[in-house]
Amino acid sequence: MGDQITVNVRRFDPEHDATGHLEAFSLPKDVIDGMTIVTALGYIQENLDPTLAFYYSCELGRCRGCLMDVNGEATFTCTTPVEDGLVIEPLAHLPVIRDLVVKFLLTKLHVDEDACTGCGLCVQACPMDIYEISVSDGVAAVKDGTKTGFLGRADAVDCIGCSRCEKICPVGAIEVVRLDTNSRTVS
Ligand code: SF4
Ligand code: SF4
Ligand code: FES
Repeated sequence: MGDQITVNVRRFDPEHDATGHLEAFSLPKDVIDGMTIVTALGYIQENLDPTLAFYYSCELGRCRGCLMDVNGEATFTCTTPVEDGLVIEPLAHLPVIRDLVVKFLLTKLHVDEDACTGCGLCVQACPMDIYEISVSDGVAAVKDGTKTGFLGRADAVDCIGCSRCEKICPVGAIEVVRLDTNSRTVS
């Protein structure tokens, strides 16, 4: 057997699992080299486990369907090369349908403009480039990427509801409101 690489994939079957578990797959390095993560998942599905569920669409880094947490970071898996030792999980804080497939929820973002200190942590944390800090006359404000107005009262259409901004804000200025909260979230 030639060199192998291992990827660790979170599996979740709503009929049999309470919380899900990581499963390691060994893949032949000479076949996998140069593949994207989502292509490697396709290899697993075709050759090792046909029950593995994941989703992607455009393979151009645009549609967001392939977003997964890779080593804890929200990642476009259609444009990111696979590597040995990756931990591939569904996006955190979203309801998991099965394995790596999540339900994207319509979200609204409420930002307390008065509380915001302009520290910029939300900008760094957001995988979708929703935030932008503007400082005018010494006052910091957080705006969305569309520059159509203050984010707190606008829907951010690209927001995937991952809550990273909400968790990292040191002054609790951000609230991510999900408009569908009936589904189960696996963490
Ligand atoms: S929840 Fe926050 S960090 Fe996540 S995509 Fe939406 S704005 Fe960005
Ligand atoms: S993390 Fe919070 S305080 Fe910092 S810029 Fe973003 S909204 Fe403002
Ligand atoms: S499949 Fe569309 S962004 Fe990756």
